Amino acid sequence: MKEMLQKNMAHMTYGIYILTTRFEDAINGMVASWVSQVSYEPALLMAAVHPNRYSHELMVQSGTFALHIISKEQKDLLNRFKGPDAQEKFASIPWKKGMSGCPILTDCIGVMECRIIQRFSPGNHTLFIGEVVNAAFNAERAPLCTLDYERTYLGKT
Ligand SMILES: Cc1cc2nc3c(=O)[nH]c(=O)nc-3n(C[C@H](O)[C@H](O)[C@H](O)COP(=O)(O)O)c2cc1C
Repeated sequence: MKEMLQKNMAHMTYGIYILTTRFEDAINGMVASWVSQVSYEPALLMAAVHPNRYSHELMVQSGTFALHIISKEQKDLLNRFKGPDAQEKFASIPWKKGMSGCPILTDCIGVMECRIIQRFSPGNHTLFIGEVVNAAFNAERAPLCTLDYERTYLGKT
């Protein structure tokens, strides 16, 4: 059963996003794909983040995150937004401070800034429910998804 489960999970498809957050002077960004819209009115998003991520700590402390929709041409951002050096992730790419205080990547399809209104821990990832408080749409491009990445995040990396 475990093998079948893994096979099925590996064939689920998701968008691949850059999630940014901040607390006081600390900023960070990470790649996230366990993400979904969960309500239209109010506009709510859910992001499942493992507690061992640095971003998790900042999200808990600040109660805020920004979700960036990136294009298929921006696959290189996946390499940039991993690793321990938060400052390095934002070096030499255009970004600004958003209404929420989160770093906002200006070159992306669109971005939604969220205020975290609820948090659940049903398993090994924390589900952060964010109410969208600000949104910008920049460009009509094809969004990056797990089909382009040829892998699916299974909760372990
Ligand atoms: C395609 C892809 C999707 C990912 N999705 C998630 C996710 O939804 N939740 C999560 O906690 N980690 C996810 N990760 C792993 C984190 O991006 C990774 O552990 C990151 O280094 C955490 O950064 P931080 O510790 O600086 O916050 C994903 C990684 C990749 C490559």
